[in-house]
Amino acid sequence: MSDTTTDFSVEDIERDPYSIYARLRKDNPVAYSPALNSWLVTRWDDVRFVTTNPELFKAEDDNAPVVKYFGKPAIIHADGDVHRELRQGVAPHYMPKKVASYIDDLVRPVARDCIAAMDTSKPVDLVDAYFEPISVLTLARSFGVTDVDVATLRDWFHGLALGAINFSDDPERARICEETKAKIDAAMAPVFERIEKEPDSSPLSHMMYHGMPEGERRSRAFIMPSVLVTLLGGMQEPGHGACNTMIGLMENPDQMAKVRGDLGETLRRAVAEGVRWVAPIGTQIRATTQDIEIGGVTVPAGQTVSAVLASANRDEGVFANPDRFDIERPETGLASFGFGAHFCAGKWLALAQMELAIRILLETFDEITLDRSQPYEFFGWEFRAPTTLYAHLS
Ligand code: HEM
Repeated sequence: MSDTTTDFSVEDIERDPYSIYARLRKDNPVAYSPALNSWLVTRWDDVRFVTTNPELFKAEDDNAPVVKYFGKPAIIHADGDVHRELRQGVAPHYMPKKVASYIDDLVRPVARDCIAAMDTSKPVDLVDAYFEPISVLTLARSFGVTDVDVATLRDWFHGLALGAINFSDDPERARICEETKAKIDAAMAPVFERIEKEPDSSPLSHMMYHGMPEGERRSRAFIMPSVLVTLLGGMQEPGHGACNTMIGLMENPDQMAKVRGDLGETLRRAVAEGVRWVAPIGTQIRATTQDIEIGGVTVPAGQTVSAVLASANRDEGVFANPDRFDIERPETGLASFGFGAHFCAGKWLALAQMELAIRILLETFDEITLDRSQPYEFFGWEFRAPTTLYAHLS
């Protein structure tokens, strides 16, 4: 095995990615992983280099699980005009001013219903009872999907996620993803039919009609892979980011007290720190267009390169004590939403939603503490979050 090859299994990195990244950053910052069939780039500067030079690292990559399982053209794996065409359909609905105009109406009723349904005489699983329902409903409603319930939406993103992380082409993960896509197609058919008859102001409608000549529209087949990307990222990640932040706060009661003292700016910083500390999305995946040197290592043309955002966020050269959750650290940058032309189109929706969901929870309950008898466990490397998060609420 050459010294630019790294040896770990998919199970290893799903269980404990951060110790692998720390080792790689130190000894092997640009390393080929046979388990993931990808080069891992783990230092901040190299991650920025890969994600901001599209002529050297293209987004189009037929080897990427999202392309294999969601199809083409998927927004995150499209370049140039096709990418611009898809992005202009999604982005306007998620710009800061637009988000500010609707976020309260979307999040508050869902949060209120979730809190009303909680039995606080025993520990409550905040993943299941609060953050995931808010996350899936906020995105689905903003997207124009109004009549699909929480349980179904959660099944959608769990099923889609298994495809998006299927680096090892596991047949069971592939099967579940295919089944999920068929269910989404069936549930979305009436939504598409409605918009095909009468365009509206939803992102789905924008994706279909924006910039097209009068009377023409893009086909369902053309936009569907990007719809799946947006549904998955949009429904899953803010819930995960909010859970990661809450763990940081519950593990650090002094920092929780500071946030309670200022549910504005301090909470904003806490959420940014929560998604730095444990990044909900691990990578931006690119393909080399030519032989290219990254951090002193030559990667051949046509290789898949994972720019590991989660690792950049823990780069010791950029963040002091990077493994520590610290809401008062200087804000030197954040890799969690990606870099370059593909940086997260839903960033402002995600931040606003996470802040509001946490604020409502802290305003409702004076005491929120971890239930140590049912400890949380983080899982995943490409998508990382606790599987459960039991807390005492009073
Ligand atoms: C904490 C929450 C979120 C995180 C950490 C996150 C992170 C990311 C990252 C890292 C990328 C870049 C992927 C790549 O280049 O391969 C991305 C892209 C994207 N995200 Fe998010 N995301 C979040 C929430 C959302 C939400 C709520 C939406 C809903 C609209 C969304 C929609 C998208 C879309 C459409 C893209 C593709 C952009 C493009 O390729 O041009 N994300 N996100």
